[in-house]
Amino acid sequence: MTGRLIVLSNRIPTDKPPAGGLVVAIHELLAERGGLWIGSGDEFVQTPSDSFRPLEGGEGYDKAAFDLTESEHETFYLGYANSVLWPLCHHRTDLIALDRKYAEGYAAVNARVARMLSEILTPEDVIWVHDYHFLPIALELRKLGVAARIGLFLHIPFPTGPDIQALPEREAFYHWFAAFDLVGLQTEADVARCLDGYRAHRSGEMLMNGRMKFRSRVFEVRSFPIGIDVKTFAETAAKPLTHDPVHIRADAKLILGVDRLDYSKGIPHRFRGFGTWLEKRGPDSPRGTLIQITPPSRETVPAYQAIARELEALVGNLNGRYGELDWTPIRLIERGVPRETLAPLYRLADIALVTPLADGMNLVAKEFVAAQDPENPGVLILSRSAGAAEQMTEALIVNPHDAEEVGDAIERAFKMPLEERKTRHAALFQVVQDSDIFDWGTRYLDRLNKVERALDPAK
Ligand code: G6P
Repeated sequence: MTGRLIVLSNRIPTDKPPAGGLVVAIHELLAERGGLWIGSGDEFVQTPSDSFRPLEGGEGYDKAAFDLTESEHETFYLGYANSVLWPLCHHRTDLIALDRKYAEGYAAVNARVARMLSEILTPEDVIWVHDYHFLPIALELRKLGVAARIGLFLHIPFPTGPDIQALPEREAFYHWFAAFDLVGLQTEADVARCLDGYRAHRSGEMLMNGRMKFRSRVFEVRSFPIGIDVKTFAETAAKPLTHDPVHIRADAKLILGVDRLDYSKGIPHRFRGFGTWLEKRGPDSPRGTLIQITPPSRETVPAYQAIARELEALVGNLNGRYGELDWTPIRLIERGVPRETLAPLYRLADIALVTPLADGMNLVAKEFVAAQDPENPGVLILSRSAGAAEQMTEALIVNPHDAEEVGDAIERAFKMPLEERKTRHAALFQVVQDSDIFDWGTRYLDRLNKVERALDPAK
């Protein structure tokens, strides 16, 4: 790579060095190669600046922010990104809130960031864009004559063709993706949906090897399943806890659920599944306590407000029906937990219950596997609708809509012999280790640098 690596993501970490997850990988990649990381500033302004504001804390690379006004935060972030694109990509077109102001705000922020980017770019620079907040950015940059390599990684599922029809911007949607050189998706199923969508479009023409022609553009679509920093997470998990954070009886079993409070995560379905297990539980079944850790997210978006109440009602109902003087079957915590506590908690857990209705990958599934003691591992119960299910086939795979199947998987996991737990865990650990976050970043960037360029890169 001769030019700079420029990463654009809506979120940019402000802690130094960043504490975990994807931001750590991007931090390491940039620290190794140098470059620039651009994200949104964390304070709203009255009048957005026309140039990036330098940020502290890059360590070997530069960091910069673009401004948002409060109204842009509402239309660009809460509106179009999280009330239109998020439900669209998670197969919840019923929750899409259409408002012309959202589309305008989204377009305006993307056009402004593209303008600002075009002013600092050299033709050798490589731009790596993350997620659904910036789908139009490559098209905007091409309009400004930028011919540099631009790649997108979409962290969430690619929507189905029929779902895209729910979007007033359905035509633009196809143009947005086609303006990138490389569209990275999480799974083969995402790639298939993306290519099917373009194939069904009158201007799309399938070429060889995941390459697609759309009007005068040629671009490539490939899957790059994201991973975690396995080594660091496993080390954090193995550090002995100085206190017992959960206080459950020695003969009781611990089931863990960890998700942002989001309707895509299937948390009510999980509770209903746990409810069928409670109901069917026999005299030889252990006591199982489900601890659900759920930090709130995007709280002012109406579709998010109903879920907390729904969960609280379900918890109250199940605890009332099945609780005992010394046993509360479900504990719901509407707050985040620091990674230093979370990782050892994963290791303590007998089961992780990961039941999204739609999910790009789901890194909780991978973190749980990385955190286990290989000599006495817990069991992963994983929704077939999580991207992770494509790779993690040795988990107990369930249909999250089928409460009975989820309940039976819980019972099966509790009764699973040690040998089977070890064999399944070893296979899962191999998968998680072989596609860790660093491997993911390197694979993506190598491909972006090699991708054969479009016939006419400026269109
Ligand atoms: C998902 C998205 C990310 C997003 C994260 C947290 O993982 O793919 O782009 O940053 O959720 O959501 P938030 O809206 O709080 O950034």
